[in-house]
Amino acid sequence: MQRVVLSVVLISSVFLMACNSEDSQSNSESTQTVKGLSSHTSVPQSGEAVYASKCRACHDYGVAGAPRYGSSELWAQRSAKGLDVLYQNSIRGIRAMPARGGCYTCSDEEIKAAVDYILANSQ
Ligand code: HEC
Repeated sequence: MQRVVLSVVLISSVFLMACNSEDSQSNSESTQTVKGLSSHTSVPQSGEAVYASKCRACHDYGVAGAPRYGSSELWAQRSAKGLDVLYQNSIRGIRAMPARGGCYTCSDEEIKAAVDYILANSQ
């Protein structure tokens, strides 16, 4: 009787070990996938790309009082506050403009690049 119990314990522990090693294998695989993904998304988008996909809906047309892209007059007034203020306001939001222009996955650097892009093309 004792031998039967012992072998059941042995068999089940071998089985458990097999399961564990499979688990740790699949874990390391999924970690690799996640790493691959995050290194891909950490490549910053250019200011032009951010502007085209996130900002132009408002800034191309001056929606809700947004200073229009390309208007040197409107942007000169904004720039008078200083570049750092413009960066801060576009990251935090200002009145009708949502924080980060609504792009919550954009990094600070990407938002700043988009501001640089707008200013460079509105002189
Ligand atoms: C939903 C519309 C909307 C979107 C999208 C949007 N903006 Fe704006 N933005 C505005 C409005 C409205 C203002 C003017 C706010 C005010 O001063 O009343 C503004 C103002 C600004 C200013 C001037 C801030 C200041 O301090 O005067 C900057 C810079 C700016 N936006 C950058 C961006 C960038 C960069 C993006 C894209 C990442 C973006 N905006 C997306 C509506 C938008």
